[in-house]
Order: sequence, then structure tokens, then C-alpha cells
Amino acid sequence: MYELIPVADGPQYDKEAEQRFIEEWPEFIFHDEGVTPYRERRVEYFRDWEYYLVAEDRLIAGCWGVPIAWDGTVADLPGGFTDSLGRAVTSYEEGVVPNTFVLMAAAVRSDEQGRGHAGRVITAIRDRAVDKGLGQVIAPVRPTLKSRYPLTPIETFMTWTREDGLPLDPWLRTHVRLGATLLAPAPASQTMTGTVEDWEKWTKMLFPSTGTYTIPDGLTTLAIDRDADTGIYVEPNIWLRHA
Ligand SMILES: CC(C)(COP(=O)(O)OP(=O)(O)OC[C@H]1O[C@@H](n2cnc3c(N)ncnc32)[C@H](O)[C@@H]1OP(=O)(O)O)[C@@H](O)C(=O)NCCC(=O)NCCS
Repeated sequence: MYELIPVADGPQYDKEAEQRFIEEWPEFIFHDEGVTPYRERRVEYFRDWEYYLVAEDRLIAGCWGVPIAWDGTVADLPGGFTDSLGRAVTSYEEGVVPNTFVLMAAAVRSDEQGRGHAGRVITAIRDRAVDKGLGQVIAPVRPTLKSRYPLTPIETFMTWTREDGLPLDPWLRTHVRLGATLLAPAPASQTMTGTVEDWEKWTKMLFPSTGTYTIPDGLTTLAIDRDADTGIYVEPNIWLRHA
């Protein structure tokens, strides 16, 4: 039987989760400086919003999110991942009552992918959010297939569908099958900035000239400026809303 348990109740899975789930993301994802000021407070305030999916004492997946206040309009959506985090932490400190759960990330261990576990995770956390009084569930989704089309604008990519009408992107498709609708692009969901050397380390590539580069697992391109010794990558995501 599958069970969604709060991370605080499953310390025996922590080590494995750290290894298994970190390897699912490109290194640059962990270098968004906009996240840094909120990281510790997020864990402190919203520890109850971090879960493991386990089956017979085996760790299958993990997910986490944050509660925010949102008026249901596209105009009031956070800018994306980083902005959601900021809004959640700031609102908590100001005593704002949240009405919306933002599913920030989900990861299934690599040897269990493609078996519908993501659907189990999303359904379980969505039900949990509704039980806790958060009637609206949204997500700034990182469309996994977008890395194959780094030059395509996110606004265009999100309109691509298969013959059956479902999104071309498998991760968007999973959400849509579970009743989600595409709300809006989030063209600047996260911003990663580093020196040229940082980027060479994160991507295991070399950037000998100033210019624009495609990078492994990048949903868009990386702009390298050798004179300023910086590389800037602005990650686009897509806002989805669950029914
Ligand atoms: C995205 C992810 C959560 C999906 O979880 P999952 O349990 O494998 O999802 P499902 O079994 O429901 O499969 C969803 C779709 O993705 C496809 N898929 C699953 N694993 C895949 C893989 N490794 N490569 C390519 N496609 C894959 C499935 O075929 C399915 O597509 P379908 O509609 O044609 O059936 C999982 O692949 C993952 O953890 N990826 C790394 C972390 C990540 O990118 N998270 C999303 C951003 S927060």
C-alpha cells in the first residue's frame, strides 16, 4: 500500500531521499540565489508540507510545497517558483491566511519512474491540502521535455499537444490527466547566476567565448559574459491549476 507521510515522520528515509532526489535535477537548479534568503524559514514554517511517498517501507517519491494567499486570477499568480517561496514566507510572517497550496516540486526515484507514481503523489498531496483548508492547488511546473527545445519560447511550448489533445510534455500530461489546466507561462520562474567557472562546474561544459549556449537539461539558454565573468540562466516554467 502506498502512503504519503510527512518528512518529519520518516527520518529513516532522509538519507536516501537526499541522494535519490538530488540526482534527478541538474546541478544549476540548486543555485538560485533568490531562494537562499527563504530556505531556512521555509523548512521551519512549512515542515508539514513536505512528504515522502512510501510503499512497504520503501521510499518511492518525495514532494513539497508551500501555502499562499491567491485570489484565483492569473494577474495575482506569483512570478514562479522563487516568488512563490518568497510570498509564502512573507505572508506567514505577516499573518496572512493562506487559501492555496503551491506544489513546488515532486521527484520519483529513477528506478520507479514511468509507473504512475507521480499521479499518486499529486493526488495524495492535493487531498491533503484540501483537508487542511487550502481549496486551491497550483504548481509552477518544470516541463521535463522542454530541455529538448531550449530555443522555443515557453509560451509556444505550452501550446504543443499530441493528436489526442493532451500536452506533448509528459510531466504536463500527467498533471492534465489528473484534472489540471494550464494557466499561464512563468517565463522567469527562477534565475541562476554564477561566474563562468561556476557554470563550467555545474554543466561540465566549457564556455570559451561570450555568447549564448544550450546546456544539458536547460529549459532555455545560458547567457555567458566573459568580460563581466557571469553566466545568467532564467528558467521558464508553466503555471498549472488543479481542479
Ligand atoms: C517527472 C516525474 C516526477 C514523473 O514521475 P513518474 O512517476 O515517472 O510519472 P508517470 O509514471 O506518471 O509518467 C508520466 C509521464 O512521463 C513519462 N516518463 C516517466 N519517466 C520518464 C523518463 N524517465 N523519461 C521520459 N519520460 C518518462 C511517462 O511515460 C508518462 O508519459 P505518458 O503520458 O506517455 O504515459 C519523474 O520523472 C521525476 O521525478 N523526474 C525528475 C524530477 C523532475 O523533473 N520533477 C518535475 C519537476 S518538479
